[in-house]
Amino acid sequence: MSLLDQIDQIRSTFMEELYSISSSKDVERMRIHYFGKKGTIASLMRFLRDATPEDRPNLGKIINDTKEELSSHLENTQKRLLIQERQHRFAKEAIDVTLPAEPFRLGIEHPVQKVLQEVVAIFSSFGFSVGLAPDLDTEHYNFTGLNFAEDHPAKDMQDTFYFPKDYLLRTHTSNVQVHLMENQKPPMKIIAPGKCFRNETVSSRSHVFFHQIEGFYIDQNVCFTELLELMRAFWPKLFGTKVKVRFRPSYFPFVEPGLEVDIACTQCQSQGCKLCKYTGWLEVAGAGMIHPNVLDQAKIDSEVYQGYAFGIGVERIAMLLYGIEDIRTFSRNDPRVFEQVALKYSSVL
Ligand code: PHE
Repeated sequence: MSLLDQIDQIRSTFMEELYSISSSKDVERMRIHYFGKKGTIASLMRFLRDATPEDRPNLGKIINDTKEELSSHLENTQKRLLIQERQHRFAKEAIDVTLPAEPFRLGIEHPVQKVLQEVVAIFSSFGFSVGLAPDLDTEHYNFTGLNFAEDHPAKDMQDTFYFPKDYLLRTHTSNVQVHLMENQKPPMKIIAPGKCFRNETVSSRSHVFFHQIEGFYIDQNVCFTELLELMRAFWPKLFGTKVKVRFRPSYFPFVEPGLEVDIACTQCQSQGCKLCKYTGWLEVAGAGMIHPNVLDQAKIDSEVYQGYAFGIGVERIAMLLYGIEDIRTFSRNDPRVFEQVALKYSSVL
């Protein structure tokens, strides 16, 4: 077969192959096969060896031209395939910016925590500073130091969680009073948020675990009307200026006189509803003038100093502010519920 016939044959199989390949790897394979040291084009060199010296330059040129022609086809195909492959890869990696995003959960502040912070912030603006006492405490701080009689029913195992060695879980935040009175000197103006525990049957309205905010002020010449004025000033700050406040006489061993603070039902505006048990009022705090026995036990002279104290129930307030009907919602800790609450009431707190 002559060189030209051979070249025609090579060209046609080359072109056929070139059209059938689909990846840049195939191009590399063809490059070695045709243009490699022992490749198809190299094998044409034998025609040069056998040719006469006159024909040799001409044949050499034909072989070179063929080589250039075929390799430029190969380069073009290589470029096309590389572009295609890149497009394919991009298409696979592409991000569809129109797809709805996965919800991003930032976490949400617990409604009880929000109320605690808000209440503390309001009392801070009234000049109170934050004090704390342990949740796991002793009978002395939770009861005896607060003038509870030895046989007071609250001390019963049914109400209080007792632990070995005289320990108990505090049933109210009033233990803060005793701790701080023993360690500090008046004047004292303290606000103390914290957890409390009572051995109660869990229901939609009561729980074994809840929060209170204790406040007290001890100084010379502290009077009862100051306490009433403080309560009248505080509740509108939390519930809005329209909220009405009323006081009822009540009994707590550690205050005298003692009272209970009610606000007009925020749900029915005192018309009477299920929430306020058709009384039109909601109980939100206990308060009173600190009993002289409490001061004297803590070695604060009750002839010189007086004080008032109050304790606010936190869950009740969070339920009112956020329209939560079941106190167990707070301990179920479902972030979706808290998110909904936050969205619905973002304007409240
Ligand atoms: N500690 C009382 C309670 O648990 C509330 C209270 C606090 C009452 C301070 C009077 C003064 O209910």
